[in-house]
Amino acid sequence: MMKLTDKQLARYEEDGFLLVENFTTPDECDALRERAAELVAEYDPSDYISIFSTHEQTRTSDDYFLNSGDKIRFFFEEEAFDAENRLRHSKERSINKIGHALHDLDPVFNHFSRSPKLAALISNLGYKQPLLIQSMYIFKQPGIGGEVTCHQDASFLYTEPMSVTGLWFALEDATRENGCLWAFPGGHKHGLKSRFLRAEGGGTRFEVYDSTAWPLDELVPLEVKKGTLILLNGLLPHMSLVNRSPRSRHAYTLHVIESDCHYPADNWLQRAPGMPLRGFKISDGW
Ligand code: FE2
Repeated sequence: MMKLTDKQLARYEEDGFLLVENFTTPDECDALRERAAELVAEYDPSDYISIFSTHEQTRTSDDYFLNSGDKIRFFFEEEAFDAENRLRHSKERSINKIGHALHDLDPVFNHFSRSPKLAALISNLGYKQPLLIQSMYIFKQPGIGGEVTCHQDASFLYTEPMSVTGLWFALEDATRENGCLWAFPGGHKHGLKSRFLRAEGGGTRFEVYDSTAWPLDELVPLEVKKGTLILLNGLLPHMSLVNRSPRSRHAYTLHVIESDCHYPADNWLQRAPGMPLRGFKISDGW
C-alpha cells in the first residue's frame, strides 16, 4: 500500500501541493476516460445548456449549476458556441466538465474514488473521518479548453476550520501547451481571500476578505504525466490557462473535507437530505 514518506509530507506542508507520480495506473486512467465518454454519449444537450466560466462565475451560476452538488451534470466550454449560439463542434468536443457527484452516483467513479490506496493516502494526510464532497471530470478541450482563473478551493468548499483538500488526477499528460495546473508554492500560508456563497434571494456572490491581486508571477507550472496525482491544500492559490493546443487535457478531481468541521448552509454546494455525504466505504449509492 502506497504511503507518503515523511519527506513528501514535509514538502506538502511547505509548498501546499505535492505531485505523486504513477499514483493512478494507465488502466485506471483509461477506465475513467471511457466512462466519461459514455456519460457524454448518453447526455442529451437539447434539454438545457449550461456554460462553465470562472470569468463571470456569479452571473453564470444558474439553477442547473446550483443544484448539481448531488447530481451528474454537464457544463459547456465558454467558447464552444458560435455567434448564433450553436455548437461549433460535436458535444464530445464541447463539454468543459461533468460535476459534481460522479463519485456517489456513477459506479465506475464511485469505485475509483473509494479505492483502498486513496483512502490510505487521505488518512496519511491526517484525516480522521474524511467525507467526499465533490467530484469533477474536466476535459480541457483542444483549442477551446477554458482558463480557470486563480483561486483557492476553500473559497468554494469552505469549512470551519478549513479542511478541504483537492485531489487532481492527470488522466493524460498535462503540459504548458494543453493547460496544466499552475500553483503558488507556499501560497497556502497567506489566508483565505474570499468565499463563494449562495446569495440571499438567489444566485451566488463572492464575499471578499482580501482584495489584493494574486501574485501571478509567483505561480509555477505543474507539468505532469498521465497517472500523476496532485494534492492541493485547500488554501493553495492555483489556476490553469486556456488550452489552445490540438490536444485535450483530461483530469478527474475529488475534494475531501473532515466530517466534524462545520459546513455552512450558504456554501454553494448543497446536497439533498436524502443524499448525505459519504466517506471512503464503497456502497451501492442511492
Ligand atoms: Fe481548484
